Amino acid sequence: MQKYIVRGGRPLSGEVHISGAKNAAVAIIPAALLVDGVVRIENVPQISDVTVLLKILEQLGANVRLLNPTDVEIDCTHIHTTHVPQELAHKLRASYYLIGALLGRFGSAEVSMPGGCNFGGVRPIDQHVKGFAAMGATVREGDFIVANAEGGRMKGANIYLDVVSVGATMNIMMAAALAEGTTIIENAAKEPHIVDLANFLNLMGANIKGAGTDTIRIYGVDSLHGGAYAIIPDQIEAGTYMTAVAAAGGEVLLRGIIPKHMDCITAKLQEMGVEVVEEGDTLLIRRSGPLARTNVKTLPYPGFPTDMQPQITTVLALAQGTSIVTEGVWDNRYRYVGELTRMGAQIRVEGRTAVVEGVSHLTPATVQAFDLRAGAAMIVAALAATGTSEILNVQYIERGYEDIIGKLRSLGADIESVEYSDQEVAAPRQIG
Ligand code: EPU
Repeated sequence: MQKYIVRGGRPLSGEVHISGAKNAAVAIIPAALLVDGVVRIENVPQISDVTVLLKILEQLGANVRLLNPTDVEIDCTHIHTTHVPQELAHKLRASYYLIGALLGRFGSAEVSMPGGCNFGGVRPIDQHVKGFAAMGATVREGDFIVANAEGGRMKGANIYLDVVSVGATMNIMMAAALAEGTTIIENAAKEPHIVDLANFLNLMGANIKGAGTDTIRIYGVDSLHGGAYAIIPDQIEAGTYMTAVAAAGGEVLLRGIIPKHMDCITAKLQEMGVEVVEEGDTLLIRRSGPLARTNVKTLPYPGFPTDMQPQITTVLALAQGTSIVTEGVWDNRYRYVGELTRMGAQIRVEGRTAVVEGVSHLTPATVQAFDLRAGAAMIVAALAATGTSEILNVQYIERGYEDIIGKLRSLGADIESVEYSDQEVAAPRQIG
């Protein structure tokens, strides 16, 4: 296993290029299953979740060709099975997208679901299942989700989501792209990756309208054809670098981003006294003075993203005064707070609320990455804490951040990845 050693307390400076969005890639790659032809997907982030998904597609019979590190060609013309075995599928939550894609194209799917707890509780997929059932599929849930479309083809339906769910919105979109008739998703999620998936499918011949609003109409078509598509930049990766600069100080230029996607994060950092200057597809982040307190509530897009909650809480831990963070999406996403308090942060969690009493500095410590974004927060904290910190279980970080060590080092951070024995710490949970 690898751990990161961070010698923190030095400001960051330089430029960093933002990679393709993880949560778009993990939907668009399975969506290639819907296409009868060759799709070329560009700006694919080099992260372990992507590697696993590409392996799964190959097992199903897809021809996967890596053209260069970020561009991949996938040909799903000769898929020979709709059974996705446990071995790879259990490695990532996003394997649930294989259900919608396989159901949509072949009318059947058998996908092993990742078990166990996440963020301290179960992550339900009842809204995905409700959508598939409304479209005429029978769905049996167990270790495997076994789904079959009535008559072998999904049928358009009106589906109202009881909770705004990114996963259910995208999964239903995939199941509906080739359905007979029109599907309407109401109370749909509006995240940038929802629009990205719709754009990808439309480019391949689908007819999807309204992605990015809370009503999405999918007019089923008979088949999708090949084409080339570039994934949007990762809002959360960009936001994580913004918080790293806010916590450690310095001046960094983010390249290759969509500034509009960053507004929710930019606004909060500006309230805290961080300078953020937008120009074209770049964002300059500068922090030299003290950080001011503020309150943050996570919400579905365009609200403040839950996937930035651990990182912004870490910055608030260093702000003057008391800040309130409210988690509006997940029931339990504060497990990392114990690790931060071991670095000197003063944070009290009450249900979905964290009361953060700002401290003047964090102290280095050995901490764990409990999940992907919690791990990112540990890096942000360690960069700000003068002295040597160690971060364990970094495989969770590498599931979603491309070359985070290389990128941070290019900004002047003193961070390295070294091997350690897995006896040192119990394995944490699967999320993402
Ligand atoms: N929910 C239900 N029923 C469902 C689906 C969701 O009750 O059928 C609830 C969840 O329990 C949660 C809320 O709805 O309280 C939102 O869940 P959502 O379905 O939007 O989450 P997801 O699709 O499983 C994706 C990202 C997460 C991110 C959330 C919210 C992927 C692979 N994962 O998860 O990303 O936190 O949307 O934006 O896209 C991460 O990248 O670190 C990560 C965890």
